[in-house]
Amino acid sequence: MPDKMTLYAVISAFWLAFLAILGVNLIGGLILPVEDQIATTGYPIEVPEEEVTVAASDEPAERPSALPLIASASFEDGAKGFRKCQSCHSVDPAGGNGTGPNLYNVVGRSIAAVGEFGSYSDSLREIGGAWTYEKLDDYLEDPKSLAPKGTMSFIGLKKAPERAAVIKFLISNTENPPKIPEIPVEEPSMDDGTAAEQPSE
Ligand code: HEC
Repeated sequence: MPDKMTLYAVISAFWLAFLAILGVNLIGGLILPVEDQIATTGYPIEVPEEEVTVAASDEPAERPSALPLIASASFEDGAKGFRKCQSCHSVDPAGGNGTGPNLYNVVGRSIAAVGEFGSYSDSLREIGGAWTYEKLDDYLEDPKSLAPKGTMSFIGLKKAPERAAVIKFLISNTENPPKIPEIPVEEPSMDDGTAAEQPSE
């Protein structure tokens, strides 16, 4: 019996030693830097790929026009939208000029026509003509599209309904505004031209 006990003790001792060595190796593996782990274990460690941000390619190439929305746009929404302009523009006939020219009567007015505003850019002056609804729509959507070197530091009103409302607000601060263009709001159509491309039998 004691012999057997000794045998058990020896076997246990070996096991313990084996486990201890295994343990040290495992812990060492955890402590080693990632590259060393790959080198020593051969296992690739998964590193999460950087998130790929896809450009918004589903945006329509042609921006929707605000023109069909002006007639039904609300003055209140426009007044709210105009807050983005107020730091530079006044619509008060007695409000004078700020960083930007006074916008009282601007709809239909000649472009760059406020005499007392002495700092129009050449880029804006070169547009020529008057502020038609089309030009206002373009300019307010992206000032640089009409006046590439213009000095209005404003990103633009990208949403057609907001642009329409701000134009409505400008109309109500203009004494004799031109007639609002009557353009029907386009309904998205399911079969615009694509039917012709269907193979015929
Ligand atoms: C950071 C100041 C700033 C903000 C904000 C700003 N503008 Fe201007 N705006 C200007 C300046 C400066 C000019 C003159 C640009 C030039 O000469 O190129 C200008 C010019 C204009 C003109 C042409 C006026 C004319 O007499 O021909 C219109 C119209 C106009 N802004 C509308 C707006 C509207 C509407 C908003 C808000 C949605 C707005 N702007 C926001 C600074 C600003």
